[in-house]
Amino acid sequence: MSVKTRVYEGKAKILYTTDDPQILLAEFKDDATAFNAQKRGSIEKKGIINCSISSKLFQQLETHGIRTHYIDTPAPDQMRVKALKILPLEVVVRNIAAGSLCQQTGLALGTVLKKPLVEFYYKNDQLGDPLLTSDRLFLLELATPEQVDTIAHLALQINKSLCEFFGRCDITLVDFKLEFGLDAQQQLLLADEISPDTSRLWDNSKETDPNLRVLDKDRFRRDLGNVENAYQEVLQRVLKAIESSK
Ligand code: TMP
Repeated sequence: MSVKTRVYEGKAKILYTTDDPQILLAEFKDDATAFNAQKRGSIEKKGIINCSISSKLFQQLETHGIRTHYIDTPAPDQMRVKALKILPLEVVVRNIAAGSLCQQTGLALGTVLKKPLVEFYYKNDQLGDPLLTSDRLFLLELATPEQVDTIAHLALQINKSLCEFFGRCDITLVDFKLEFGLDAQQQLLLADEISPDTSRLWDNSKETDPNLRVLDKDRFRRDLGNVENAYQEVLQRVLKAIESSK
């Protein structure tokens, strides 16, 4: 009889041990937070929706040669993942200017970037996840130069694959956040989740109204309403795109 021990609780997931020390169980929560948890709420069925979307996207990336922590989905809101040493980095890839890039640079919302921008943030809630310079990243020894190069390369590969996939969903991938971890062999694997919580997704079929286009957590952050519907819509389109590619 196995005893589930909680090893970590984040804002959107709880991680439990399993019988196998190499495997953890991630339980996706309905809880939603924004602005470093200053805003709190709940999005109905978010745990199930984000677990489903993430599972499908990880499987999709695996078929394109990207190694991820994903193993399988034993329950709708649960994902079995490889136990990794997570690097304290939030890796953001941007295709279109939005969010903090607009706030911190003055670039207009919606500006299409000439090439994808890869940014590293320090995953540290107490400090508010600050944007890192490479010198600060190495000063804090958050990763080695070789790891940073590999992550930047993987992030661009993942972006290419996801842009193509979301294109088939009639969705524009504006930006997204990734986390990486090291396995026992010190190999870098994609970890965490990829979902409407951790990305900006704009509906191509509603191009006339910018607010109507938002299919991600900005609906919660900016009180745009219909949050659950937007998350459901992303899941339905992801499932449809996978079905029609079979
Ligand atoms: P930002 O524009 O607020 O920096 O966010 C960039 C992307 O990163 C966006 O897709 C949302 C995602 N993100 C997270 O997943 N977690 C976070 O804590 C933050 C601030 C952003």
